[in-house]
Amino acid sequence: MDDLKAEEYHKQHHIWLQEVKIYFEITLTFIYDVVKSQRFKGKKLLEIGSGATVHNIVSASAYFPIIVQSDFARDNRETLKRWLKEDSPLDWSEFLNIPARLEDFRSIDVRQITSNLESRVRRSVKAVVHCDILTDGVLNLEEIPAEAAPPYDLIISILCIEVPCIDFECFVSALKRINKLLRKGGGIIMSSVYNCDKWTVGDKEFPNLKISLKNILTAMDMAGFGNHDLKSYSPIDSAPRITHGGYYCLASEKL
Ligand SMILES: C[S@@+](CC[C@H](N)C(=O)[O-])C[C@H]1O[C@@H](n2cnc3c(N)ncnc32)[C@H](O)[C@@H]1O
Repeated sequence: MDDLKAEEYHKQHHIWLQEVKIYFEITLTFIYDVVKSQRFKGKKLLEIGSGATVHNIVSASAYFPIIVQSDFARDNRETLKRWLKEDSPLDWSEFLNIPARLEDFRSIDVRQITSNLESRVRRSVKAVVHCDILTDGVLNLEEIPAEAAPPYDLIISILCIEVPCIDFECFVSALKRINKLLRKGGGIIMSSVYNCDKWTVGDKEFPNLKISLKNILTAMDMAGFGNHDLKSYSPIDSAPRITHGGYYCLASEKL
């Protein structure tokens, strides 16, 4: 994963946005609806595997004033910290336009809404820390201020948990570690592709656990999650670079 560079991922992500914009609209709308429903109430949110992105937490920042972002790759963490200090080469506004329109669909000036959302995210994120879902504890707690320490009320993890897991047992173990970071009754929002064994950034190839939707749900049950709200969608790529079974969005509760 050290091979994963924030600027290359940013460029690739904008290509995906052009190719499968509907996937980002579906996922960000799902996140928006779950947080707006207040199904998982509280103050503290953790994002696992943020990359160097901010769009997946933007809707939640309206409800959770204390947010920790995390990622395995150093370049992502450093670049994300720069974005939070308004010193980043990366511009995520095209992605932020999606939650911006969900919050305010009347305004003519979407750039102004997006800019307000960027400020809200910068106010809410209290730390960007190293995480490894394959290691007990997952987070480097030394990097987290006391007010933002576990347990969390909600975890968001998008296009991430399948990435480092080599088999079903590994996936269940990662989910169990993540479960321990939540308070009882807290929630997790996940979204990714299923039945997919790899993804690419430019000419670099990265692994992904090939797992069915049924087995994802079984793993969630085994890891102590329940009350699943699952949505699944057929592959929607007009020119698919990778083979996959489709997309899913899942919100589950720590039992
Ligand atoms: C496909 S990217 C997704 C990034 C972002 N969530 C998004 O929606 O674009 C997968 C992310 O998983 C992270 N990752 C890889 N191995 C990990 C691990 N063992 N623990 C936590 N995150 C990991 C990578 O660094 C990368 O940022």
